[in-house]
Amino acid sequence: MNKFLNNPAFEGIEPFESKLWLSSPTMHGDEQKWVDEAIQTNWVSTVGPNIDEVEQQIAEYVGVKYAVGLSCGTSALHMATKLAGEKLYGQAKPNQGTLQGHKVFCSDCTFDASINPVAYEDGEAVFIDTEYDTWNMSPEALEKAFEIYPDVKLVIIAHLYGTPGRMQEIKEICDRHGALIVEDAAESLGAKYRLNGQWIETGTLGDYNAISFNGNKIITGSAGGMFLTNSQEDAEKVRKWSTQSREDAPWYQHEEIGYNYRMSNIIAGVIRGQIPYLDEHIAQKKAIWERYEKGLDDLPISMNPWDRKNAQPNFWLSCILIDKYAMAPSVRGEKDYLYKSASGKSSPHEILDALAAFNAEGRPIWKPMHMQPIYRMNPFITVEGSGRARSNAYIEGGGIDVGADIFRRGLCLPSDNKMTPEQQDIVIDIIHRCFK
Ligand SMILES: Cc1ncc(COP(=O)(O)O)c(C=O)c1O
Repeated sequence: MNKFLNNPAFEGIEPFESKLWLSSPTMHGDEQKWVDEAIQTNWVSTVGPNIDEVEQQIAEYVGVKYAVGLSCGTSALHMATKLAGEKLYGQAKPNQGTLQGHKVFCSDCTFDASINPVAYEDGEAVFIDTEYDTWNMSPEALEKAFEIYPDVKLVIIAHLYGTPGRMQEIKEICDRHGALIVEDAAESLGAKYRLNGQWIETGTLGDYNAISFNGNKIITGSAGGMFLTNSQEDAEKVRKWSTQSREDAPWYQHEEIGYNYRMSNIIAGVIRGQIPYLDEHIAQKKAIWERYEKGLDDLPISMNPWDRKNAQPNFWLSCILIDKYAMAPSVRGEKDYLYKSASGKSSPHEILDALAAFNAEGRPIWKPMHMQPIYRMNPFITVEGSGRARSNAYIEGGGIDVGADIFRRGLCLPSDNKMTPEQQDIVIDIIHRCFK
């Protein structure tokens, strides 16, 4: 890191006294009140008024009839995926998943929690390549996937970094093929999308929907998640499954496999204190994204893009993509990386290392699922068809792989809503100096 601190190119910049985070929790005070009340009234369990209240407030905010509070976004996604599997293929035996023997089309550029539930349910994820326009699932690649695997009936889509995917096209494709959608809105709570001319919230666009209150999200409970639906039957099923599938009997009686996935009333107290600030956090994140866009507009980079006609992101994370010609040489192994500086150019790890040297946190773009060792043998579909085994010893090139390209050239910048404009100006200055 000294190589940045002692480098004349960075002369005059002092490390931030307190760390600038990628995205850290922002507490407002009421969180403590609701947590204290839960403890004082002894609602210290997975039932209580905070849970009832946050379920009602979130359902109202996003515009669904039912919200079921769960321990995390991952459990919400598991419940959503299992419901879809059971609807499509029937109830599974206790030792089998509902997706056994079935493929599921999945977002590729996302966090693995989006799509791990396919494996929990014994299904096989087929990864669908990304589009440059939103950094989300490419509708064209999805269409191609249905050509190759016409029997697939389930699609899991995530909205990366709070930017809605092209849901109009994706829903039309799924409708045409009779496929259900699990929507992962973990990163996009509060983001809106214009579907059939009407603005609606992400988290309401799928047949089964999930959000997260993880510590790094736009609002947090320190943990927590929710399953969102308009179906009373589905909501009741998730309430049952998430509380160990207890039957209505005086003793513990079980007819289905259960899970201990319910939200705690303490966690719900933190979320209850956060909900009134969701819109404020979005406005702060949007201002950060716009300041980066303006401050970096003379550099050979572009910001994480969004559909300005049909989407209003929540701007959870601000990211950049370095232009191809401005990429300095760099390579990545499975755990390490190497780069060279070059005049007028830079690379994600050079920028991330420079930021870290000055006590600011960025992060590489989430590594696409089709590149993850655990999913290396799963199918991957691009606009050209199968994205696997496209290289050739005798012909140059390896086929289109948008996700890999964004991973290679992109990075997430400090996006904490407590970052001041003055601090952000220094971040912008550091990035400029990386390109000198
Ligand atoms: C896209 C996405 N899906 C799912 C999750 C999982 O949510 P949780 O951490 O609440 O389980 C996260 C983040 O944590 C996420 O970023």
